[in-house]
Amino acid sequence: MSKVPALLDLIAQMTLAEKVGQLNFVVGDLFITGPTMKPTTSDKFDDQIRNGEITGLFNVYGADYVHRLQEIAMRESRLGIPLLIGADVIHGFKTVFPIPLAEAASWNLELIERTAQIAAKESTAAGIHFNFAPMCDISRDARWGRVAEGAGEDPYLGGLIAQRRVRGFQGDDLSKPDTMAACVKHWAAYGAPEGGRDYQSVDMSEHLFRSTYLPPYLKALEAGAATVMTAFHDFNGVPCTANEWLLKTLLRKELNFDGVVVSDWGSIAEVSAHGAAENEAGAALKSFQAGTDLDMMSEGYLKYLIPAIKEGKIQESVLDESVYRILKLKNDLGLFDDPFRYGNREREKLELKTKDHLSVARQMAQQSFVLLKNEGSMLPLKKSLKVALIGPLADNAPDMNGTWSFFAEPDDPVTIKEGLEEAGLDVLFAQGCELYHSTTKHFPLAKEIAKQSDVVVMVLGESAVMNGEAASRAELGLPDNQLELFREIKELGKPVIVLLSCGRPLVVPELAEEADALMVIWSPGSEAGHAVGDVLVGDVVPSGKLPMTFPNAVGQIPIHYQMKRTGRPYLGNYDEPASERIYLSKYRDTPNEPLFPFGYGLTYTKFELSDLTLSQTCMEPGDSLEVCVNLTNTGLYDGTEVVQLYISDIKASITPVAKALKAFERVTLPSGESCKVKFKLEEKDFQMLNENRKWIVEPGDFEVFVGANVNEGLTARLEWTL
Ligand code: NOJ
Repeated sequence: MSKVPALLDLIAQMTLAEKVGQLNFVVGDLFITGPTMKPTTSDKFDDQIRNGEITGLFNVYGADYVHRLQEIAMRESRLGIPLLIGADVIHGFKTVFPIPLAEAASWNLELIERTAQIAAKESTAAGIHFNFAPMCDISRDARWGRVAEGAGEDPYLGGLIAQRRVRGFQGDDLSKPDTMAACVKHWAAYGAPEGGRDYQSVDMSEHLFRSTYLPPYLKALEAGAATVMTAFHDFNGVPCTANEWLLKTLLRKELNFDGVVVSDWGSIAEVSAHGAAENEAGAALKSFQAGTDLDMMSEGYLKYLIPAIKEGKIQESVLDESVYRILKLKNDLGLFDDPFRYGNREREKLELKTKDHLSVARQMAQQSFVLLKNEGSMLPLKKSLKVALIGPLADNAPDMNGTWSFFAEPDDPVTIKEGLEEAGLDVLFAQGCELYHSTTKHFPLAKEIAKQSDVVVMVLGESAVMNGEAASRAELGLPDNQLELFREIKELGKPVIVLLSCGRPLVVPELAEEADALMVIWSPGSEAGHAVGDVLVGDVVPSGKLPMTFPNAVGQIPIHYQMKRTGRPYLGNYDEPASERIYLSKYRDTPNEPLFPFGYGLTYTKFELSDLTLSQTCMEPGDSLEVCVNLTNTGLYDGTEVVQLYISDIKASITPVAKALKAFERVTLPSGESCKVKFKLEEKDFQMLNENRKWIVEPGDFEVFVGANVNEGLTARLEWTL
């Protein structure tokens, strides 16, 4: 593609120092999201802007504030190059939507795109135009705290969501004042750290990487994401920020990505901490040579690139290419035409937390809840019941915002207590226990109100800081005092409904066994209480489905529905004599099966699938297939079912995964009605990645599975001939 002449002219006027300044991206002084001793003070960055030493700042916002910075760049720096203003707008700005994992549980792609659009609208009004989202990291390890920020375990669902989020942020024109540049992160496979510990090494086969972890990033890139962020870990032995294979061979050459590659916070300097460079100078050189354009918070390029050029280790023309990419991003954002187009006082007054935005947040929260158990149809609750509402998250606004919600007001969210009261329930409340202290001193009051009530609703789980970045956990059960409280309340003999607020799958077999009803509500955002109220009283029926497997024990992790069959599969058949079960792939102390499988989620009504038909059972190259199934709402409520279609390749040249999601449809159906749900599959849906890294269909048998989750459904078989 031909280059923009005005930008080339500008580069021709730049000194070496001004060029490296364009690669230097620093945090502002409003809040910090990484390890720095002191936040950069405005005195320091005002001067840096004047001197052309920084290309932009992140974690700053507010129309007035951002305009002040932009004024300095435009009027007081030699070349008047506008600043980039970035931030992590991960699940909303002032209007906080449910965390991304929760949004994924809605399987509602339109709504996900809408929340991203609103996030862009609100944050651009406050001056931000470079968003460090979406996180496209697949993860099958709930110990990793950042699963909260992603779309879960599945490459297909994850890919569609990544695509929609990019579209939502960027719209159809980056230069519009209410759209922003998206950033595909973290390149690459950040979601598979050893032991689930954040920042740890990832070592995986190229086959697994390309078939499972890469697809969501690709979808986001195909959707036109303007930037990519490297990751903290070392991938197959080379830190991602200095990984030439990831950045040059794959991203630039194979995928033709010509946008900006930004490092993660300090990850250039950390190449040395990894032990992959002599010192910070070597780390900067390696990262630059590998293809990282923009240095977030290492100041390594600022300090070490000029000497490296002078010593002939780097050619100035290569520096010019990185500078060009960054200026091009600024140009695409429209900043050269009008550096003040983002950050608008009027818009800031009118467009943040509007009624419309809050109603989308409420709808998204309602659709993200996943009902895991509802014995004896405990839910919905009749409004005549007296409810004891108990738990450290029951009247807690700040934790409803969830991880990555720095822009939100902590007290903004509607608490669950407020929501249930507004929904017309008669509520007695007791906190019962604390999030961070294991005292039992509040138990008696909680038990007292439980005794006085018809039903108990307990809101248990994780605080916001228990998941997200640097929040890996080795134990995934409820904190001990919460579990103890649950046991003591349960002993009173009242029906107990547990709402689980969390940012990851938790390991809660006891709750699944003992609670009368169990619903995951994640970190639901601004409209938490309203959405919970709507669903508990049945004004809205639950429709969410798990985007990640809930393990039965931490020791099963990593666990996911695509696990391979093994040569000694154990199918959980206890009718077989024990002697014949010994040498099979299983645990001695826990079943192989998860607590709740991928795609699982109940609702108040009942759905039945029947009459699965295929338009043909013999397929040839170029063919497409129509799959049709009958869906009936046999229950008492109007409701929504997410009908899921999976394919299994029975035999292949590389051991096939058990099943792979290939299509789904959210279908809303009135009680008593039926409809036909149709899917169209193409040749690509039957492809597998072969040993030569080609996506091909191999001849043989396939199974088409259509279900309400990955385990319960109908199957039909077909054969591919070539
Ligand atoms: C580190 C995180 O890994 C990344 O996702 C984020 O964008 C940066 N910090 C900036 O906050």
